Amino acid sequence: MSPDGPWWRHAVIYQVYVRSFADSDGDGIGDLPGVRSRLAYLRDLGVDALWLNPFYPSPQADAGYDVSDYRDVDPRFGTLADADALIADAHAHGLRIIVDLVPNHTSDRHPWFRAALAAPPGSRERARYLFRDGGGPDGSAPPNNWMSNFGGRAWTRVTEADGSPGQWYLHLFAPEQPDLDWTNDEVRAEFHDILRFWLDRGVDGFRIDVAHGLAKDPEMPDLGAGYATGGQAVEGHPHWDLDEVHDVYRGWRRIADAYPGDRTFVGEIWVADPARLARYLRPDELHTAFNFTFLVAPWEAGALRAAVDESMTELAEVGAPATWVLSNHDVTRHVTRYGGGAVGVRRARAAALLMLALPGGAYVYQGEELGLPEVEDLPGEVRQDPTFHRTGGIEPGRDGCRVPLPWSGTEPSYGFGPGAASWLPQPAGWAELTVERQAGDPSSMLSLYREALRHRAALPALGAGTLTWLPAGGDVLAFGRDPGFVCVVNAGDRPAAAPPGVRDARLLLASGPVGDDGTLPPDTAAWYTT
Ligand code: NOJ
Repeated sequence: MSPDGPWWRHAVIYQVYVRSFADSDGDGIGDLPGVRSRLAYLRDLGVDALWLNPFYPSPQADAGYDVSDYRDVDPRFGTLADADALIADAHAHGLRIIVDLVPNHTSDRHPWFRAALAAPPGSRERARYLFRDGGGPDGSAPPNNWMSNFGGRAWTRVTEADGSPGQWYLHLFAPEQPDLDWTNDEVRAEFHDILRFWLDRGVDGFRIDVAHGLAKDPEMPDLGAGYATGGQAVEGHPHWDLDEVHDVYRGWRRIADAYPGDRTFVGEIWVADPARLARYLRPDELHTAFNFTFLVAPWEAGALRAAVDESMTELAEVGAPATWVLSNHDVTRHVTRYGGGAVGVRRARAAALLMLALPGGAYVYQGEELGLPEVEDLPGEVRQDPTFHRTGGIEPGRDGCRVPLPWSGTEPSYGFGPGAASWLPQPAGWAELTVERQAGDPSSMLSLYREALRHRAALPALGAGTLTWLPAGGDVLAFGRDPGFVCVVNAGDRPAAAPPGVRDARLLLASGPVGDDGTLPPDTAAWYTT
């Protein structure tokens, strides 16, 4: 083991959104052989592990987060043999593999849900999900006022086997994603078995979807004023972040700990209070969680520093490392969030150096190393996210951050697949952003990520550990990492003088042109050794 502890305490993990990464067979949808063919790129980028979004058999009502078989691979993405080959090849390239586990809900085509629909109210088959009688004299009112995260209500009424209008079932996401009842022993046992299935195949860990959502208040009270369906949950919510959920993770941790090789869990946990987040990372629960407090912070020195401080203080209480995240497949890409255009790119470059210098691990969402912006002008007809459709287009949805990667050439699909096909259209301007174009350009975003990751791997100061804030004025953040490293970020829109501590330090890497006297241009970060 390295002096920094097990790998997950300091790893840089690259998120592979499989359907948009690389397409091996020309159907316009990325697949596991496509990922396998690009492992050398990921190794050379310098990341430690890959997190693969769901590739299991699924009707794709929510891009694979509606799983109909947890122990196989969807033919669109390959075969189980392809998954095995990818795991083996990734390991041979020195890359670990984290797979996505979706325990809050199944697909409505999962054999369990089909059986539940065919069985009567009160049956063992229905008890695996959250079926309830409706309100009003004829049961035609939904059991409560909960809303789906994707818009519309969170309940759908079924037709019973005899053709009569029947019970309602809960779906916190799309109607095609019925929620499981996690008080049910069969549900718990099934997921223990699914964990073992993938651990036996050699995966290094799991990303847990909606990890804060598995337990629901059994009384199912209405959602009160002041509580929202989406965003980061606050305490007292009837279906997010209930205390009962922790017991599930204690059981999972015991399973993972029985395997060799530091298998790990990372939770997708949207809670507002970092202290509540830390509860999931107690020593007998999950190992890490995505740090959404950092992700949602605006590009502003005070807000960024507060996000770093809050996260680190609370996680230290439970001995867990932070994981820093700027983008993923559910949020607007940060080049665009930070202002778009040249300003957005400049800030994204600085943010990368900030993130990779902070203590703990980090996530890189595919394409952020190319500086891809959100594609905001996708026409409605090509959009596939249920959020877009369930809100009648009021919410644009998440397709704009899921457009297939540009690898090479000057025309779509820019090397994504063997032909022109890509499941979402790629913008014409992406010829400038291909891997091929950026690889040879020392000033590109790709070169910045490669350099930063190379230094990060070589410098004992980076990765696990702590930070010390250094005095710096106004819009400037400066912190030291031991031994002998300083990161300075000017998040303001005016040049800033170098803080006193770094005037004699050696400049290692910068996201923009630093002056000879150490002056940092606006929206620029720099790394120094001291
Ligand atoms: C979070 C996933 O990241 C998102 O893509 C999905 O739609 C929801 N969970 C529901 O599974």
